Amino acid sequence: MCGIIARIGHGDATETLLSGLENLEYRGYDSAGIAVQNGSGVKVRKCSGEVDELKSSLEQSLHGNMGIGHTRWSTHGPPTDENAHPHTDTAGDVAVVHNGVIDNYDELRADLQARGHEFDSDTDTEVIPHLIDDYREQFGDTERAVREAVETLEGSYAIAAIVDGEERVYAAREGSPLVLGLDDEEWYLASDVPAFLEHTDEVIYLEDGDLVVLEPDDYRITDVAGSPIERSVDTVDWDPEDAGKGEYDHYMAKEIDTQPTALSNTIEGRVEDGNVAFEDLPAGTFADVETVQFVACGTSYHAAMYGNQLLRSAGVRADVLRASEYDQTAGPVDENTLVVAVTQSGETADTLDAVRKATDRGARSLAVTNVVGSTAAREADDAIYIRAGPEVGVAATKTFSSQAVTLALLTQRIATDVPTATPVEDREAMLGSLADLPEHVETVLETTNAESLAREYFDSDSYFFIGNGLGHSVALEGALKFKEITYEHAEGFASGELKHGPLALVTPETPLFAVATGGDDEKTKTNAIEARTRGAPIVAVAPDDHPLADAADWQLSIPDTHPVWAGLLANVQLQLVSYHAAALLERPIDKPRNLAKSVTVE
Ligand code: F6R
Repeated sequence: MCGIIARIGHGDATETLLSGLENLEYRGYDSAGIAVQNGSGVKVRKCSGEVDELKSSLEQSLHGNMGIGHTRWSTHGPPTDENAHPHTDTAGDVAVVHNGVIDNYDELRADLQARGHEFDSDTDTEVIPHLIDDYREQFGDTERAVREAVETLEGSYAIAAIVDGEERVYAAREGSPLVLGLDDEEWYLASDVPAFLEHTDEVIYLEDGDLVVLEPDDYRITDVAGSPIERSVDTVDWDPEDAGKGEYDHYMAKEIDTQPTALSNTIEGRVEDGNVAFEDLPAGTFADVETVQFVACGTSYHAAMYGNQLLRSAGVRADVLRASEYDQTAGPVDENTLVVAVTQSGETADTLDAVRKATDRGARSLAVTNVVGSTAAREADDAIYIRAGPEVGVAATKTFSSQAVTLALLTQRIATDVPTATPVEDREAMLGSLADLPEHVETVLETTNAESLAREYFDSDSYFFIGNGLGHSVALEGALKFKEITYEHAEGFASGELKHGPLALVTPETPLFAVATGGDDEKTKTNAIEARTRGAPIVAVAPDDHPLADAADWQLSIPDTHPVWAGLLANVQLQLVSYHAAALLERPIDKPRNLAKSVTVE
């Protein structure tokens, strides 16, 4: 949540900062701001609203070869102009952008105010420029002042600062992501790679405790004591095209539409001769595992349900836990527990916290993530990448598909190693049919009637989604996507649960989407018919000729395939229904209100 960017080089920084912020808006869009440094001091422009509003408010162009920028998801203080970043010290000489939360800001603020510092905002961030200013006064050296300031701060932060009269950007990281981008002529710092991917793919993933000083022709990384640190340079294999919207109206439309490619990348090289292989995880890796705990939030939790069910079918003890509830639900954990963090961003605070708690108790950890260099990938003992490419729309789409496939493969890989596991009966058929999944998704995208269906029902009272087994996770995901981007009430249930309460809400104004995977769908059919008897329009998300389709008012057709993959095809149909309904309701599809993609606060 919150995105920061900094840039220093020889040309003008403003355009780069603004376009970088646009690519970071998935992290928050309550307010935006930039500060640039030129011959006439540090100039700040900021306002509530999105980056577009900041751009239109820049009535005069703002020039400078170095600067910092911020896009905000509010934590401390409402989304007002005053609370927008960058924040400055009293004289306006030090400007700072920050992603994270400063826990001891109350006492720092009181102390600084007592010594004459004047504050303009309600944010925790504002103490940082004042602290830097205070230590500059004391030591007469900005680099030292930044070091002292970060030692004083408690909490999480990625910060970047510029100071009047200095051709430098200062930055530090503790608990919030920060990546350094290295181009021939200029350096970048950002919360995430898409912010500068159009300029460079050479990056350094900074670690907690790192401080960085950027100058036009040089950069230095040190620890808090000022001792130099060497960090390796990585090359990102994302295509800059992937980070843009291209010809699409929305990132979400693009991300739904490019799922065949994402899935091909996810699968590539991972199934050979009927065996599942993951780089860096040789045979026997999981031989000591007795219990697997999947931890995740939101959409990633729904994908984790996939992994959990498949692992249990293979006779391995497994649980899927909501990361935010880990303390209360984890049960016994020891060195034979494998905790699998399922997280697209690799930065979700609740998920990271659950993994840290599990590893403190001796568990081994594995991150299943989309983002190379993310905190989850770096902190876990091992990491598997889902290879979906950058996802910018706040509502997760292609990453759900790639996560579910990766987890399905992982379960087979774990089951091969765990001595007590029993191979899934039709493993060969399941793995064999995976190669057709991208093509089947293509078929769904080409033949879908989701838009007509959305048009028919987009002004209903509520929407219900049911499914059993793997279809249950798809029903939950369908409902989450629908409510998230349409703002309409939507709920997902295990099919058999409908009659235990939710049926009271069913009326002719509540369409019910019944997800059938072609496996054991009897419960889904029976419960859909019971809802239909009460007047609810039924939408069968099912293969053609499925018995559920005969009992339904509408069908969203999915190609015949193995039941494990059928749920993912049903999910694509449901993504499309949500997208079209949200478009008809004129919702801001890529930036739903109150949300951000990377939830780095608990
Ligand atoms: C919903 C959505 C969220 C995320 C959740 C976890 O469309 O995107 O529910 O799935 O915030 O995020 P990650 O996967 O980054 O840990």
